[in-house]
Amino acid sequence: MSHVAVVLAAGQGTRMKSELPKVLHRVAGRPMVQWVVEAVQATAPERVIVVVGHGADAVIAALPEGVEWCVQEERRGTGHATQIALAHAGDIGSHAVMVLPGDTPLITADVLVDLVERHRRAGAGVSMLTAEIADPTGYGRVIRHDGAVRGIVEHKDADEHQRRVREINAGMYVFDGSTFVSDLAGLRAENTQAELYVTDVVAAVADRGDPIEAQVVGEELVAGINTHEQLAAANVVARRRISSQLMSDGVSVIDPGHTYVDADVAIGAGAVIYPGCHLEGATVIESGAVVGPDVFALDTRIGRGSRVWYSVLRGADIGPECEVGPYTTLRPGTVMRRSAKVGSFVEIKKSTLGEGAKVPHLSYMGDATIGANANVGAGSITCNYDGYSKHETHIGEGAFVGSDTMLVAPVTVGDGAITGAGSVITRDVEAGSLAVERNEQRSVPGYAARRAERYRGAEGETKEH
Ligand code: UD1
Ligand code: MG
Repeated sequence: MSHVAVVLAAGQGTRMKSELPKVLHRVAGRPMVQWVVEAVQATAPERVIVVVGHGADAVIAALPEGVEWCVQEERRGTGHATQIALAHAGDIGSHAVMVLPGDTPLITADVLVDLVERHRRAGAGVSMLTAEIADPTGYGRVIRHDGAVRGIVEHKDADEHQRRVREINAGMYVFDGSTFVSDLAGLRAENTQAELYVTDVVAAVADRGDPIEAQVVGEELVAGINTHEQLAAANVVARRRISSQLMSDGVSVIDPGHTYVDADVAIGAGAVIYPGCHLEGATVIESGAVVGPDVFALDTRIGRGSRVWYSVLRGADIGPECEVGPYTTLRPGTVMRRSAKVGSFVEIKKSTLGEGAKVPHLSYMGDATIGANANVGAGSITCNYDGYSKHETHIGEGAFVGSDTMLVAPVTVGDGAITGAGSVITRDVEAGSLAVERNEQRSVPGYAARRAERYRGAEGETKEH
């Protein structure tokens, strides 16, 4: 017997005090609801129905492939949201119904697969997950009589005695489909929040004497995120899991507590990640690359054996054996071919560096192609923007751009050409030529001594500066 899965994601998340719908807050780079839906999908449900409401369009846009959604216009509680999902589902036949909140991103596929399996074996009215936690504030408490679950009492409805219970409801259940629909229909909003609670179905099952199977799992797995503090704590756990996985895959993570790798980043065996790295989006780090300390990389590839430190990289494609940093900014569209080098205080945008090309110090290269083995001297920049549009610069293979050259685009420096230091290059330079644009140097013999004399004579009169 298979099951239908419902994920509740319509709430605003008032306690987050944020415009963003709660389930879109990110854990290791992924919206919370995506973590939940993917764990649910791993249990092979017939259908996955996500209930959306607050910020519906944004939440729908973040949903993975293969799920359905329905809208809860008014937030009248988790029971109400579940009713709407089942109305959307239509006739569920003999399917069991899995229900999960959308704000528990640390739940894993393994635990849910096990929950479904146990429900199937036990034939319980409901199989549910609970956890024993040190500070249960805010959670629903599991009420047991003689060890058997009798019901769930929400924190806001609990009396002092019930609040002392440390076993909490994870909000993750598999209900028997044959009774669930009518139990849901029977819910009453008789509680402090005047909401329909899906948790009250558990008491209905108990009242009928149907078996309830509650599995106690680790607190970390079921943590519900209602506040920014809980979100930060969940991120710590998610990052630790990712680092552990990377290390067992052969990546050297020097200090997992200070390494921030998003869930969708790929890192090859033998790479070394120093502390202070934030690796985000679709970033790929190939084998043998050494990254950090202190690198921010978004949607960037760092090739095999490359070395990058103290730098900000966005949408860059760094080939093998390259060197980047310290203090380099690579912006979208930067491509570095094998053994290219970009050094300190250099910014590159939408430019390609050929094999072995170097931009070692204090430069800006935008909308440029830099040929293989070309060298761009310190302080050189492309003047790529005339205030209205962007223009291209081409630097040929093996060209030598002298220090402090201004390349006023559009302009081409031919293969093997040289520009004199300090030149403002406004016209194309032919291959193999030297282009110099600056005034002749003038010498004024004896000037230094005359100047010193002048100042000595003035002493006493102008003490103040
Ligand atoms: C809920 C449980 C509580 C459990 C906790 C576990 C109820 C009444 N309480 O409390 O027993 O310990 O989760 O994390 O179920 N939602 C809707 N529509 C609504 C209300 C909520 O879709 O009208 C969604 C929210 O977006 C959220 C989920 O349901 O993803 C849970 O709602 P939330 O307000 O976080 O419930 P808790 O107070 O955490
Ligand atoms: Mg919650």
